[in-house]
Amino acid sequence: MHLLLLPALLLRVAADNRPPLSAYAGDSVTLLSGADPLWNLSAITWSIWPNTTWIAKYDDKRTNTNLFYKYRGRLQLNEVTGDLTITNVSSADEMKYTVDFFNTERKNKVNTIQLRIKQRLNQPLIRKAVAAAGDICLLALNCSSSDPGVSLSWESDPHLRTLGHDGDTLMAVLNKTHTGLNFTCVSRKNSDNSTSTISITCEVLSSHRASSSYLLS
Ligand SMILES: *[C@@H]1O[C@H](CO)[C@@H](O)[C@H](O)[C@H]1NC(C)=O
Ligand SMILES: *[C@@H]1O[C@H](CO)[C@@H](O)[C@H](O)[C@H]1NC(C)=O
Ligand SMILES: *[C@@H]1O[C@H](CO)[C@@H](O)[C@H](O)[C@H]1NC(C)=O
Ligand SMILES: *[C@@H]1O[C@H](CO)[C@@H](O)[C@H](O)[C@H]1NC(C)=O
Ligand SMILES: *[C@@H]1O[C@H](CO)[C@@H](O)[C@H](O)[C@H]1NC(C)=O
Ligand SMILES: *[C@@H]1O[C@H](CO)[C@@H](O)[C@H](O)[C@H]1NC(C)=O
Ligand SMILES: *[C@@H]1O[C@H](CO)[C@@H](O)[C@H](O)[C@H]1NC(C)=O
Repeated sequence: MHLLLLPALLLRVAADNRPPLSAYAGDSVTLLSGADPLWNLSAITWSIWPNTTWIAKYDDKRTNTNLFYKYRGRLQLNEVTGDLTITNVSSADEMKYTVDFFNTERKNKVNTIQLRIKQRLNQPLIRKAVAAAGDICLLALNCSSSDPGVSLSWESDPHLRTLGHDGDTLMAVLNKTHTGLNFTCVSRKNSDNSTSTISITCEVLSSHRASSSYLLS
């Protein structure tokens, strides 16, 4: 009994074995049917959900990509390859898609593919705090992001030894030799990143006094 169940189980795993496909919200994505290029396809059906809700269909040399309101006007079905292109994807499109196709010799195959939708990260926000102390500038930069779950870090160009370098905060002591320094905050999540850069110059405010003060800009 158990041995009889095993082949069916293995087939199911194999059909689900294609790696998930990722796309950014707003982009277009093409779901590959996985059909053998030598097959002449006579019928193609793309569906979603366990109850096999049809979203695109090719049959009797006719194509219909307006079967389900959530995808209306956003689908292109390639009748030769069986591939389905979804335009302007959103997080609501994140699910498993099933394609069921026949060739002209009535051979049939079913493939599934999981679509993941990624959101582009927003640019982080840099805030600057400055203190002039004698002939140096004390710089404190704070970085924040409106995206949840990101990790923040700093990069400086040219590379600069900084006092503190702790996630969202960067502190440095600068003097008048430091002009046009670029500090970049990097927001990272999974394999995505987004950056903001601020250019900093430590300028002499008034040098005619014994104790000159400096201005950061
Ligand atoms: C597919 O169609 C082409 C052209 O109609 C034909 O030459 C070829 O033999 C067909 N292949 C199969 C496997 O049916
Ligand atoms: C199919 O399943 C989806 C999600 O579970 C549900 O929203 C939809 O109403 C179902 N459609 C039919 C025709 O049962
Ligand atoms: C893309 O979809 C979003 C909703 O997910 C909609 O607000 C926007 O207008 C659509 N853009 C285009 C070009 O259709
Ligand atoms: C930096 O800004 C964030 C967001 O406003 C705040 O939560 C955090 O405490 C600030 N860090 C420092 C060191 O000021
Ligand atoms: C400015 O700071 C750098 C190190 O950051 C140091 O090498 C240099 O001597 C300083 N120059 C002055 C004029 O203090
Ligand atoms: C900072 O970036 C600007 C713009 O990319 C560049 O022109 C400038 O040379 C950079 N400054 C330094 C010190 O590398
Ligand atoms: C941000 O991601 C892009 C694309 O993966 C990569 O080329 C770049 O080096 C990354 N930038 C940083 C600062 O990690």
